[in-house]
Amino acid sequence: MTVLRYKVDAGIAWLTLDNPPLNALSHELRRAVISALDRALADGKVRAIVLAGSERAFSSGADIKEFADGTFYADPFLPAVVDALEAAHKPVIAAISGACMGGGLELALGCHYRVARADAKISFPEVKLGLIPGAGGTQRFPRLVGLETALNLIVSGATVAASTFKGSPLFDVITEGAAADAAREFALKLGKQGDTVRRVRELPVKHPQAEAFLQFAKTSVAAVSRGLAAPSRAIDAVGASLNDFAAGLATEQKVFTELMASSESQSLRHAFFAERAASKVPGLNDKTAQRKIACVAVVGAGTMGSGIAMSFANAGIPVTLLEAKPEALERGISGIRKFYEGAAAKGKLKPDEATRRAGLITPSLEFAAAAKADLIIEAVFEDIEVKQGVFRQLDKIAKKGAILATNTSTLDVDRIAGFTKRPGDVLGLHFFSPANVMRLLEVVRGAKTRPEVLATALTLARRIGKTAVVSGVCDGFIGNRMLDPYAQQALLMLEEGASPRQIDSAIEKFGFAMGPFRMSDLAGNDISWHIRKRHYAEHPRMRHMRIADRVCELGRFGQKTGAGWYRYEPGKRDAIPDPLVERIIDEERRALKISPRKIPDEEIVDRLLYALVNEGAKILEEGIALRASDIDVVYLTGYGFPLQRGGPMFHAGRVGLGQVVRRMREFAADSHADPGSWKPAKLLVTLAAAGRNFDAAPSAGRKKGKSRG
Ligand SMILES: NC(=O)c1ccc[n+]([C@@H]2O[C@H](COP(=O)([O-])OP(=O)(O)OC[C@H]3O[C@@H](n4cnc5c(N)ncnc54)[C@H](O)[C@@H]3O)[C@@H](O)[C@H]2O)c1
Repeated sequence: MTVLRYKVDAGIAWLTLDNPPLNALSHELRRAVISALDRALADGKVRAIVLAGSERAFSSGADIKEFADGTFYADPFLPAVVDALEAAHKPVIAAISGACMGGGLELALGCHYRVARADAKISFPEVKLGLIPGAGGTQRFPRLVGLETALNLIVSGATVAASTFKGSPLFDVITEGAAADAAREFALKLGKQGDTVRRVRELPVKHPQAEAFLQFAKTSVAAVSRGLAAPSRAIDAVGASLNDFAAGLATEQKVFTELMASSESQSLRHAFFAERAASKVPGLNDKTAQRKIACVAVVGAGTMGSGIAMSFANAGIPVTLLEAKPEALERGISGIRKFYEGAAAKGKLKPDEATRRAGLITPSLEFAAAAKADLIIEAVFEDIEVKQGVFRQLDKIAKKGAILATNTSTLDVDRIAGFTKRPGDVLGLHFFSPANVMRLLEVVRGAKTRPEVLATALTLARRIGKTAVVSGVCDGFIGNRMLDPYAQQALLMLEEGASPRQIDSAIEKFGFAMGPFRMSDLAGNDISWHIRKRHYAEHPRMRHMRIADRVCELGRFGQKTGAGWYRYEPGKRDAIPDPLVERIIDEERRALKISPRKIPDEEIVDRLLYALVNEGAKILEEGIALRASDIDVVYLTGYGFPLQRGGPMFHAGRVGLGQVVRRMREFAADSHADPGSWKPAKLLVTLAAAGRNFDAAPSAGRKKGKSRG
C-alpha cells in the first residue's frame, strides 16, 4: 500500500499524502515524504514542489497509536521531516484542504508557502492530549501569526477556519476553490520569479510587551485549566519563540518530552482512545441496519424532558414535547424560551438561530401528537407505575418501527420494555442533567433491544453531540450504580469523624469538579433520598443513613431550597458550612456510640475512589459495561472525574490493583459499619493476583449468553 502519490507535471512535483482517512503522519508516511522530497530535489525538471493532502484532510497530525510503541520517535522523526521541507533549495508549497491539525499544521509550517481552502480547519489540538506541538509549531506559528494569536490557538486547542487568517502571512493564498488548483497556479507564478525559497525560521517574533503579556497569559490560563499542566507549559514554549530559533526549538523539545512522559498526558490519551472504543459495540458494525430518525417526541417537560428536547433542537431535529398538565407544559416551554433568549442575550447564539431552535420544539398535551415520531423518549416521574401508564399509551399510538426510550435513572428497562408489545424497540437513553449541556449519554441495552435499535441510538448520540456509552440493565446502570457505594462511604465517614467540607475538599483537591456533598446539593438531595427509601423498602435489613435522611426530613434538598448539606445565600452558589448539619452529625455519632476520629485526607480519597473501583469491577464482571475504559468515559464525561487521572479504572491500574485490594482489606478491618461493603470484587482480586490491570479484563461482548441485569 502506498501512502504517498508522486507525480511531476509542468515542472511541479506533486507529493500527495494518501493515508486515509485523515493522513495521520505515520512512520511510513514520514519516510515516504522524505524520499519523495529527495526525489523531487534531485530531479532537474522539477522547479517547485507541492505537498498536498485529500479534500477531507491535509493531515490530522501525528498517528497517536504510535505513541504507545515508540514508532512515533522512529527515524525520520516528524521535526526532522519539517526541517527537511524547510531546508529544501526548491520552493515547497503546502496545498491545504480539510483538517490541518497539530503535526499536519507543523508540516505546512515547514513549507515555504501555504495555499489553503477558506474552510480548511486549522488547529493545534495537542493540549487536549496533555501535550504541546512538538515539531516546531510553537516556534514557527508565532513567527507568522504573532505571539498572541499563536498562544490563543495553541493553549485552547481550538479549531478555526483558514479564512480567519486572511491578511496574515500564514497563508499566501486563501481560495474558495480547490486548494490544488490554487497551488498549481501559485507554483507556476513562483517558477518565473527566480529566488523563491522563504523560511519561516528566519522571521523574528515581536511583541511590544512580551514579558507582561506572557505573565498575564500564565495567570489567566492557570485560573481556567483546572490543574492541567499542558496549557501553562505551552506558554513557556511559545514564549521561547522570542529567542533565537534554535534555542526556542530546544525549549519546545524539552517541554514536549516532559509532557509526553507525564501521567497527565497518559491519562488524556487513555481518555481519547477510551471514547473511540466506546462507540464500538460487539455485534454491531457498519452493516448493521439503522432506522431513520427525522423527528422526535419527548414525554415530560420537567428538568430532563426540557433539556433533552433542547439537545435535539440544537442539532436541528424537530421535537414534540408532551405533558400531562398544562401548567407543567407551560413551565417547561417558558424555561426553554428563557434559555434560548439568555443564550442570544449573552451572544452565545445569534438571535435568529435561538428563535429557530426554540421554534423546533412543539408543545402538546395530546399523546397522539407523538404518533409520527421516529423516536419517543419518556422523561416523566421516576415511578414505575407512572412509566407503565406512559409506555402502555405509547405502545398504542407510536408508529410501527418507532424507537421507544426511557430516561429512567434507576428503574428496570426490561420491565419497562415489557409494558409494550414491542420490547425489541425499547431501550434506555439516560441523559445527564442539564441534558442540553452534559456530554454523556448512557445507552441502556435491554435484554430484547434489537441490534438496529441500539445502532440507531449510537448514531443519533453522535448527531446530537453526545458521547454514548452502552450499559446493560441494572439498578443505576454504570454511573449511578457506582455512585451508590461512593456516596455510602462519604456518609460513613461523616459518622466516623469527617465533615462534609473536609470530604468535599479532599476529593476536590484530588481533582474532582465537586465533592459528593456539594454535588448532591446541586443535583437535589431529594433524588438520592427517594432512591434510598426505595432501597430501604426493598432490603429491610439495610442500614439506614440517618444523617442524610434527617437532612432531607428538614426539607434541605440543596441549592434549590437554599439549604442542604451546606447553606446558601440567596442568589449565590457558595457552599457555606452550616452548624445545624454539624449538630445532626454529632447527634447521630452519639446515637451510634462513635467517638469521632480525625480521618486523613488520603484515607478519604482512597475510600471514595476504591468504592467506585470495586463497584466498577463488579459491573465489568457482570457484563454491564463492555470494557473498563467505558466506565472511565462515564466518569470523565458525566461525573466530573479529573481528566488528568484518566477515570477510576485507569487510575486504579496506575496505583496497582494489588495496592487497591490491600487498602480495601485495611478499610474492611477498620469499618464500623459494614465490612462486607469492602469485599473486593472477584475480578479485582484475580487481576491483582496476576499483576494485571483492568485492560486485561475479558470484554463483555465475548461472554456468551450472559444475561444483562
Ligand atoms: N433530574 C436529574 O438529574 C435526572 C437525571 C437523569 C435522569 N433523570 C430521570 O428523568 C426522569 C425525569 O426526571 P426529572 O428530573 O425531569 O423530573 P421532573 O419532575 O422535573 O419532570 C417530570 C415531568 O413529567 C411530567 N409527567 C408526569 N407524568 C406524566 C405523564 N403521564 N405524561 C406526561 N408527562 C408526565 C410531569 O408533569 C413533570 O413535568 C426520571 O425518570 C428521572 O429519574 C433525572
